[in-house]
Amino acid sequence: MIKVAPSILSADYVNLQKDIEKVDKAGAEYLHIDVMDGSFVPSISYGPGFVKAIRPITKMVLDCHLMVQNPEHILPAFIDAGADIIGVQVEATQHIHRALQIIKNGGVKAEVVINPGTPIAMIEPVLHMVDQVLVMTVNPGFGGQKFLPETVEKIAKLNQIKKNKGYNFDIEIDGGVNNQTVVDCYKAGATVAVAGSYVYNADDPAERIQALKDATK
Ligand code: DX5
Ligand code: ZN
Repeated sequence: MIKVAPSILSADYVNLQKDIEKVDKAGAEYLHIDVMDGSFVPSISYGPGFVKAIRPITKMVLDCHLMVQNPEHILPAFIDAGADIIGVQVEATQHIHRALQIIKNGGVKAEVVINPGTPIAMIEPVLHMVDQVLVMTVNPGFGGQKFLPETVEKIAKLNQIKKNKGYNFDIEIDGGVNNQTVVDCYKAGATVAVAGSYVYNADDPAERIQALKDATK
């Protein structure tokens, strides 16, 4: 059964605490926080102050996905804010190894994120040091996009490397995930599913979380 990480990008910001409690009670393991800088991706969302504000209201794993150019500079602020996992996009820095080192030295789980158009070879040199790999299943920047089926093969290849080398990182998927698209990803080796619009643009987010779990039993 896959772990579920609702993305609050699609939550109701005016009633954010309620929306977080809903998915917490429903058994979601992670809370996915999409940080967008208006440069690496066109949109702007929220920063470390937002993570700091959420930290006291939930025990869920705060899974911070940084869609930020040159993230090295802002990593200490996310570490201080109480993030549990920090993900950096391999395309956003010339120093992916250093960025992951900063996260790990801060006592936080380190994640590398890879876009649909980026080959796995780009992240192979750092796979030994990560706790999680996020395989983007859409191009980052917006919620509510359509799942890209060609990413399933990439998940499978990554899972093969993981097995061959004896690594035990989680494989997370993000973008266009619903109870149908999650199935092939899970079979290919995904262990954590981010879902934004599927969970929050629904009358009952709890039912949607359960549907993702039921689809991957
Ligand atoms: C996209 C973000 C996602 C987004 C997913 O750039 O990284 O986390 O919230 O939204 P859905 O699940 O609606 O595709
Ligand atoms: Zn994300």
